[in-house]
Amino acid sequence: MKKQWIGMALTIMITMTAGAQVGDTEREEFVDSLIQRMTLEEKIGQLTLFTSDWASTGPTLREGYKQDIQSGKCGNIFNAHTAAYNRKLQQMAVEETRLGIPLLFGYDIIHGYKTIFPIPLAEACSWDLGLIEKSARLSAREAAAGGLNWTFNPMVDITYDPRWGRIAEGSGEDPYYSSKVAAAKVKGYQGKKLEDPLTLAACMKHFAAYGAAEAGRDYNTVDMSERRLREIYLPPFKASIDAGVATVMTAFNELNGIPATGNKFLFREILREEWNFKGMVVTDYTSIEEMVNHGYAQDEKHAGELALNAGIDMDMQSAAFYNYLAKSLEEGKVTMSDINSSVKNVLMLKYDLGLFDDPYKYIDETREENIILSQEMKDHALESAMQSIVLLKNEKFNGSELLPINTNTGKTIAVIGPLADNQTDMLGTWHAAGVDSEVVTLMKGLRKKFPNAQFNYAFGGGFEGNDQSGFMEAIEVAKQSDLVIMALGENYRQNGEAASRSNIDLPGPQKELIKEIYQTGKPVISLVMAGRPLTIGWMDENIPAIVYAWHLGTRAGDAIAEVLSGDYNPSGKLVCTFPRNTGQIPIYYNHKNTGRPFDADNKYTTRYLDIPNEPLYPFGYGLSYTSFEYDDLELDKEEITFGEKLQVSVKVTNTGNRRGEEVVQLYVRDLVGSVTRPVKELKGFKKISLDPSETKHVMFSLTPDDLRFYAKDMNYVAEPGDFKVFAGGNAIEVLEADFKLVE
Ligand code: NOJ
Repeated sequence: MKKQWIGMALTIMITMTAGAQVGDTEREEFVDSLIQRMTLEEKIGQLTLFTSDWASTGPTLREGYKQDIQSGKCGNIFNAHTAAYNRKLQQMAVEETRLGIPLLFGYDIIHGYKTIFPIPLAEACSWDLGLIEKSARLSAREAAAGGLNWTFNPMVDITYDPRWGRIAEGSGEDPYYSSKVAAAKVKGYQGKKLEDPLTLAACMKHFAAYGAAEAGRDYNTVDMSERRLREIYLPPFKASIDAGVATVMTAFNELNGIPATGNKFLFREILREEWNFKGMVVTDYTSIEEMVNHGYAQDEKHAGELALNAGIDMDMQSAAFYNYLAKSLEEGKVTMSDINSSVKNVLMLKYDLGLFDDPYKYIDETREENIILSQEMKDHALESAMQSIVLLKNEKFNGSELLPINTNTGKTIAVIGPLADNQTDMLGTWHAAGVDSEVVTLMKGLRKKFPNAQFNYAFGGGFEGNDQSGFMEAIEVAKQSDLVIMALGENYRQNGEAASRSNIDLPGPQKELIKEIYQTGKPVISLVMAGRPLTIGWMDENIPAIVYAWHLGTRAGDAIAEVLSGDYNPSGKLVCTFPRNTGQIPIYYNHKNTGRPFDADNKYTTRYLDIPNEPLYPFGYGLSYTSFEYDDLELDKEEITFGEKLQVSVKVTNTGNRRGEEVVQLYVRDLVGSVTRPVKELKGFKKISLDPSETKHVMFSLTPDDLRFYAKDMNYVAEPGDFKVFAGGNAIEVLEADFKLVE
């Protein structure tokens, strides 16, 4: 029987190979005929995704999983990698099961596989979509060389809450910008054709609204209006779909009382019907069985039914489908037609990846040898890390400039802090199989860049508790030096999944440490490396130079040294608002005006008694070693009709004495609407490069489509009326002009 099938499968596969251009019909016929031959158990196997138990010491395969693969009861594996290991697993599926259906191999390739690029939040600060797409392309190549064919990325969750640890994985707070980033990543991972063995299937996640977890606590409840959901949280998902994303992952949270994993409104109504998504939907890790804890399902069996009926195809790790779906079918709680359609979505993906042509196409030891940690990967890791860095402050100390530091300096430089000589934490959260021994530490990067300087290193203090026993040494080291570089921030476990923090100050004794070092009176440059905005108000008040370096990956130390030396002029701009303290959260630039907008002379206006409303640093903010001046914001018309375009131009001049890059931002405000509109909304941006004294006229065009929103009746329309347009280098410092949209 088995042999007979393999023979049949081969004939079909040969036909398929010949048909690189096979049409949709042949593709469907192939998959449909396969489904006809499948037993119910084999079908459920295709809807099941289990983790391999890859341990830190290397791969192991629990007997149970092995048998499940061999019997066709588990058709997909994640967290298994390397060509050799995945070949072994694939052989079990292809050679030992009755139908020989190949496995999908998924993994969280979030910002790299073994060569690690900056965390996504950092890379988003580059505002360079080409760079972001290239990072995705290169990480896909590297991961696909390591036996993988599916990444659980892009993570496109918007958040207004830096307490939420997963802010590190996304691209900030703005729906317009995050949509552009999401599309760039999908294109990068998937390339032109999924069947190309250097690409991965992408998975947009977490559908939906996971970033709005109450109080910033991971997995917490989400409750919001449909308007906010559609205007703020859904656009990056829609953009991923328009870019052709192959798969979608559910979210852990409930949304307005219904857990996302059992949410028909999200999956059947929006994703499938409204957006016409044809790909495959996978749950997040055990999120089916978690519907029991949510209080939405009676037991695991019921949870599985809710998920399948909501339009979910594949069960990640719950084993709810595996254990109970057959029984649910027998009882009439789910239909064979829904099971078949989910199986079809899975098999179509395997087909599109080319796995029926060659189940081993993503498994190639030679490619693995040539691509992983290659020079090309490391060069890009440097480029991306440099562009991710944001210069927050750069003032003179006793009349002289601290940054940039001359590469020929002969000064004695103290480098102090838990991130000064650290490899692992530079990798950041979700660093897949990132190799920490390959990471260029800050100390190493600095020594290479400043060969004539004398460096003194001190650890100072760690990430937890309040052990100040390293302070004395650090203070001594600072006193003996001409300049101090503080390397402070979070370790890689202090952000990311299950890493929410109620207090987002520098963790452990570091806040005290920097105060002590400041007391020495030495000039101090502060580097902050973290996976989220930290509340660094004291630093901002007292330290003349602050560089936000996030977690930058494999080439972290080199990238920071390039920026400190000025060989790379920093150009990063924030994609999330930095609060002064946690009491300001949620904080975001595109807020509403309120009925009592702040007025310094009127107590009864929206405000805090103890701090200003303004953030510490706004969205879009970041400095350069040069300066830019904005003039002449001009519109080609005062009015546009629904068929017309508005041309906006703004003059930007480099007024400093170095070449530099600037992210020119365009915002709009709709002054009166059938529902209230935000005080600003990003509608365009351009990253330009200017030589000293050079001026460019930066042009944008706006159409009525750009002015649409969910109006009172929930129609997505632009309403005639008065608008403001703003251009500038961040969301606060802008020039403004007016126009009208008329019928
Ligand atoms: C849980 C996370 O929420 C999700 O983002 C990730 O892809 C899966 N685990 C698999 O590791």
